Amino acid sequence: MNEDTSEFKRQAAEHAVGFIKSGMIVGLGHGSTATFAVRHIAQLLKEGQLRNILGLPCSRQVETEAQRLGIPLTTLEEHPALDVTIDGADEVDPHLNLIKGGGGALVREKIVAQASLREIIVVDESKLSPVLGTHRPVPLEVIPFGWETQLSFLKSMGGKPALRQENDGTPFKTEQGNLILDCTFGPIDRPARLAASLSERAGVVEHGLFLGLARDVIVAGRSGIRHLRRGEYNDPD
Ligand code: A5P
Repeated sequence: MNEDTSEFKRQAAEHAVGFIKSGMIVGLGHGSTATFAVRHIAQLLKEGQLRNILGLPCSRQVETEAQRLGIPLTTLEEHPALDVTIDGADEVDPHLNLIKGGGGALVREKIVAQASLREIIVVDESKLSPVLGTHRPVPLEVIPFGWETQLSFLKSMGGKPALRQENDGTPFKTEQGNLILDCTFGPIDRPARLAASLSERAGVVEHGLFLGLARDVIVAGRSGIRHLRRGEYNDPD
């Protein structure tokens, strides 16, 4: 990640933290951009500008970071409804539909997004895209049993699936002990139809198409910070 991209991620994340109010239950997303938000929340708590926040982490990695920074945490068992979640994304289309899961936490991220009154996505401008799938594959979390059978299914749908691997060549395992298939479809004309087909398939735990879930997207880039809202057409250029 170059310095500019990292700075844009920080700017978008810190802008989004401005929507958090004291007393809120806050979903803490996974990934480098969302981590900037976690750090900023911790800073505002320390300075007394925010009070009585309870964070709900989307991954063990974020949980560890939030604990290290002293953010009080909660669980979905204690708080099944969240006020707001700040999370990153891999690709964002003009309708604020997303591809997520680059970090492998898509199942928890989607559960938390669906439980949140307001899902705020924070990205640098490189994540904007005219059509989902133009830049990134769609990650799918699949159970290990029969995962190979998913390959021909995905190919029959026009996809090019690849098993996600660690640097040492071993399969990447999610926090649920499952596998990730990164499936390149190219530009996806009808994401809702693809999402429905993927959801119907046995063994596919979840896919990384997040449709109609983001209410706001905060984008930072060379021309400053933009606030995109669901319901408006947001030109990617
Ligand atoms: C995690 O599973 C993903 O959905 C992330 O939100 C996404 O990969 C964005 O990551 P960065 O903020 O690190 O670019």
